[in-house]
Amino acid sequence: RCLTNRSSGKMGYALAEAARDRGARVVLVSAPGTLPKPVGVDMVNVGTAQEMYDAVKKAVAKADVLIMAAAVADYRPKKVSKSKIKRERASSLMLELEKTADILGEVKGKFLRVGFAAETENLLANAKGKLAKKRLDLIVANDITAKDSGIGADKNRVVIIDRKGKVEKLPLLPKREVSDRILDKIAQFLGKK
Ligand code: CTP
Repeated sequence: RCLTNRSSGKMGYALAEAARDRGARVVLVSAPGTLPKPVGVDMVNVGTAQEMYDAVKKAVAKADVLIMAAAVADYRPKKVSKSKIKRERASSLMLELEKTADILGEVKGKFLRVGFAAETENLLANAKGKLAKKRLDLIVANDITAKDSGIGADKNRVVIIDRKGKVEKLPLLPKREVSDRILDKIAQFLGKK
């Protein structure tokens, strides 16, 4: 039994493969999923938001770029039961949740920061807010209410916003192509294009 979301990891894996194909050394930090491990990338498997934070901290020590495409949990249960919670105990159950760390917002270091913004409303305004608050170089805004794109889908329709305020709206594209467009932007910022 778990509380989770429908994120498949497809966007993160597509980004990892696209970066690998451009010659980058890639560390892919991933929660459990059904996707096969991409060849030629270093994979770090994590089970919790805290484990992801620890793995990201370690990986960025040698990184030029951090791209956070993960749909990380914002809350976790405050109390963890060592034994099974029996159904006889009560007719309803309250789970108290506490905040997890904001990995992208808190991780320190000198590297290019790229985030995603999963939004159900006010796409551009909310994404711009996250770009500023998390001090990002780029943010990829994603309307997660659309059925044909975003969480779980093979395609994505995104808007890329950079730290200078430049906005680029992309059409519905396979996640691999979205990845290449994001990496083109990153290459520009790194001065490699
Ligand atoms: N993120 C993160 N750590 C978290 C939550 C999110 O690093 N605990 C990252 C995501 O990987 C993404 C960016 O922060 O790159 C924005 O995530 P999103 O879920 O859109 O927003 P939140 O910051 O969680 O804010 P809110 O849920 O209020 O929209």
